[in-house]
Amino acid sequence: MNLIWGGVDCLELAEKFGTPLYVYDTGIIRARCRELRDTFLNRWPNTRVRYAAKAFLVKALAKIIHDEGLGLDVVSMGEMYTALSAGFPPEWIEFNGNAKSREEIAYAVRSGIGRIIVDHPDELKTIEHFAQEAGRPQKIMIRVAPGVDAHTHAYIATGQTGSKFGFPNEGPMLPQAITYAQNSKYIDLRGLHFHVGSQLFDTDDYVKAIGKILELMKNLKDTLGFTVHELNVGGGFGAVISPKVSAMHSEFYTEPMMKALIEGCGRLGLEVPRVILEPGRWIVSEAGITLYTVENIKELPKVTYIAVDGGMADNPRYALYQAEYEAVKVSDPEAEPYDRDGGTHVSVVGKCCESGDILIEDAKLPFLEAGDVIALYNSGAYTFSMASNYNTLARPAVVFVEEGKARIAAERQSLEDLVRGQAV
Ligand code: LLP
Repeated sequence: MNLIWGGVDCLELAEKFGTPLYVYDTGIIRARCRELRDTFLNRWPNTRVRYAAKAFLVKALAKIIHDEGLGLDVVSMGEMYTALSAGFPPEWIEFNGNAKSREEIAYAVRSGIGRIIVDHPDELKTIEHFAQEAGRPQKIMIRVAPGVDAHTHAYIATGQTGSKFGFPNEGPMLPQAITYAQNSKYIDLRGLHFHVGSQLFDTDDYVKAIGKILELMKNLKDTLGFTVHELNVGGGFGAVISPKVSAMHSEFYTEPMMKALIEGCGRLGLEVPRVILEPGRWIVSEAGITLYTVENIKELPKVTYIAVDGGMADNPRYALYQAEYEAVKVSDPEAEPYDRDGGTHVSVVGKCCESGDILIEDAKLPFLEAGDVIALYNSGAYTFSMASNYNTLARPAVVFVEEGKARIAAERQSLEDLVRGQAV
């Protein structure tokens, strides 16, 4: 029995659309959105969810996120444009980023983007300028680095003291920016934002960050008379590697956070702000698999390389973060791992010209031959969105599957796409 994803036979998908191929079961994405509605939006009043589009964005996904009642967090003009061109309502979009250009800010303000999350004091004047030109105040929030070192890979921890993101939670930078915003007719400062990091599996870091932010909220109220009406607590919910391991539930993260916040606000005499979540990976990662065809197998004395037709160009996450993945043979997903030569090391590697082009370092796979198709689980986040054209490889297509039906969400790049805009 072949691997079935979203009710569709994956071998047929590989034959019809070619490989490498990103395949998303949009039923799983919808279920994640529903879970957030049930356990967070409907449980706690005055809350919002903004899906972090950097994890994965195509127009068809923007449509699903909107249909499911969530908003979007974007970080570039390209992400804003993708969302807006899919008909996403601008007021449901928030714009993050530590180095926004003037052009991007102008585009956001003119498009009526719901919130700009300010990351640098200079942004305030630029926002004010374009808001005045548009004749309406722009709603903003200010991102703060709460000074919490998240338990994750150093490259995806963002809330520590000294982070390139946000305003330090101590010192004059933040109070000065708040005072500026309070005195501006064209800036409507709604509150604060923080994001401690990504791929988190415990809640201590969130609770610690909430503790720091509560102190800050109290301080800002006492010294500047400033009330935080909205608090964006970022994303970071972890995704599991294997479909055999049970996925993390959203309440695991949201319950301790909300309880700490409500308790702290009560204790300090603060208004409980509207809480906004920004999960990316958790919504899409486990819904996505990537199909690859085995090109060849090289058996060496100490290691066997299974070389596939993709690699770090379509998924750079092992190369960047030593991210772990699990794969199965699509024509026999239940097959037991094959013990080549009594336990040699099996590595699934890509076709790029680097030894670091690895997809799985120590793979447990059955006997495979050239031409077999494998599926890499949990590869729906930060793969398509981080894909490059390294070695002038075409970016793979994206197919959405649900209830036995498959549809193209993004076409594979063509050879013409690869040279578009180039001059001789
Ligand atoms: N909000 C902000 C401000 C963020 O910077 C991020 C992720 C998120 C939300 C969403 O985080 P998530 O829920 O997806 O963990 N390329 C890396 C991940 C980089 C995350 C960057 N910021 C990876 O492949 O693991």
